[in-house]
Amino acid sequence: MKIQFLYFDKCPNTETAYSRLEEAVSELVSDTAIEKIQVATEEAAQKYNFYGSPSIHIDGMDLEYDSARQPSISCRLYGNEGVPPKWLIEASILNALKPKGLLFLCVNNSARSQIGEGIARKLAPAGVRVQSAGSKPTSVRPEAIAVLSELGIDASKQSSKNASQINPATVDTVITLCGEEECPLFPGEVHRMHWELPDPASPDAFRRVADELKKRLSILFANNAEMKEADSIRSQVSSFYARSIQSSGGCCDGPKAGVLSEMAGYSENELSDIPDGAVSFGCGNPLAFSEVKEGQVVLDLGSGAGIDLIMAAKKVGSKGRVIGIDMTDEMIAKARKNIADSGLQNIEVRKGMIEKMPVESASIDWVISNCVINLSPEKDKVFAEIYRVLKPGGRISISDIVAAEMPDSVKRNMELYASCIAGAISEEEYLAELKQCGLRDVLVASRLVYDRNQLKSLVSSETSGGCSCSSENLTDELKNNIITALDGKVASLKFSALKPSSSIGTDLEPSCCCSDESKPASYKGRCCEQ
Ligand SMILES: C[S@@+](CC[C@H](N)C(=O)[O-])C[C@H]1O[C@@H](n2cnc3c(N)ncnc32)[C@H](O)[C@@H]1O
Repeated sequence: MKIQFLYFDKCPNTETAYSRLEEAVSELVSDTAIEKIQVATEEAAQKYNFYGSPSIHIDGMDLEYDSARQPSISCRLYGNEGVPPKWLIEASILNALKPKGLLFLCVNNSARSQIGEGIARKLAPAGVRVQSAGSKPTSVRPEAIAVLSELGIDASKQSSKNASQINPATVDTVITLCGEEECPLFPGEVHRMHWELPDPASPDAFRRVADELKKRLSILFANNAEMKEADSIRSQVSSFYARSIQSSGGCCDGPKAGVLSEMAGYSENELSDIPDGAVSFGCGNPLAFSEVKEGQVVLDLGSGAGIDLIMAAKKVGSKGRVIGIDMTDEMIAKARKNIADSGLQNIEVRKGMIEKMPVESASIDWVISNCVINLSPEKDKVFAEIYRVLKPGGRISISDIVAAEMPDSVKRNMELYASCIAGAISEEEYLAELKQCGLRDVLVASRLVYDRNQLKSLVSSETSGGCSCSSENLTDELKNNIITALDGKVASLKFSALKPSSSIGTDLEPSCCCSDESKPASYKGRCCEQ
């Protein structure tokens, strides 16, 4: 394993960060040397992919890998701290070690370790064995089952075990999670990490434990090669849309350009006072089937040139707010100009990825999106983020392209990817992902299966492009073949869904029991569901 510590000597925290790294290395991989590198010039920052001091690279990967960051000589914060937390260093080292048998250890009925087991089972690659144990096993706490079900994990079949029931031969890594209590000892030659988490006493505390473990285990099990591949796809998609919005008067003539307007479903009336520059790259009109109300906070994923932002801002009025997220600088610049031209004051466009939204948790009433999620190479992350940012009771209205039985030759074509075709998943997969992330009342509100003419507008640049102007390099013969292969298989769908109000009520106490007659019916119902 290659471990590098990189620093710029004008920044604070170098020594503290280095000694934290040394401590983690000596506990987990004591035979590995740390290479210390001083980075003093912008050239060196580029060479080492140095995102600020202090930086730690494990096998060439920065602890907080983020493709959107530019290398530079600068000082760096981790959260609000000047040094990376120890768990981040440990999770990254473990990621490189690729554990095969993980044991979460805690006290009593091991609620914390049960949560760890549930999340790790979901995130770990095939072939990794995940177990949990405590010191006095009883039934799994219903609150643990409830918070895991909020994350789309069914832990109802997990059982609480004693550490002595675990076969040491099946474990190469132990993560202890006790707070002030003393964790049971587990014998053997294993990698050991202690992630102290307080004993949760309220439903919210259970949720905090789950969120914290999810954050840490996502790093432990991150597939770095896949992350880099996903970044490469995003960067190509972004270049396509940068080109598309810059080619004025070319293929992207806007929503008023005939077939596209009909496909997207904007009425003449809706478009009448939208600035001319707010062209649509969408495949639907998500607001048309939403019930966005005055005063609400709306989030538009992949907001493009801002057409849906402007429409949403009118719906929510001056007491409401609209936030757009987009990763393409040129689109963001265009949207900001269009918003300024519209005179509306309640819209903000943020640069970022929809897989890692720059948006506070539980802050959004309505998530809308128009023909964007099909473009994401990490759709599971997008759906999980949608769930995170929605308030309990918040809703989604999403227009997107779905496709069935896509030929491999189409899937591999990057131009068709940017045209919102090759990255599309099937309707069944889309619905399953929406449910899996925890959303309820998941519905298809309408479905428009594209005919040959409409497919042509998706794959061709001459006909005002479907969702981008990307297919200029495809020959007419190839386009015809693709249209024939996809005939009847590609559709624009409108999805709606709801984030349930809290699934663990505030009346849920640790001693929850189905036979407890003193509890209200709703309380007992939740307990007894397992
Ligand atoms: C097909 S256009 C749709 C734009 C807009 N929703 C509309 O209807 O006109 C896709 C937009 O999503 C953005 N986008 C694509 N993938 C993204 C991602 N992973 N994160 C953030 N923005 C993304 C692109 O930059 C582009 O502006």
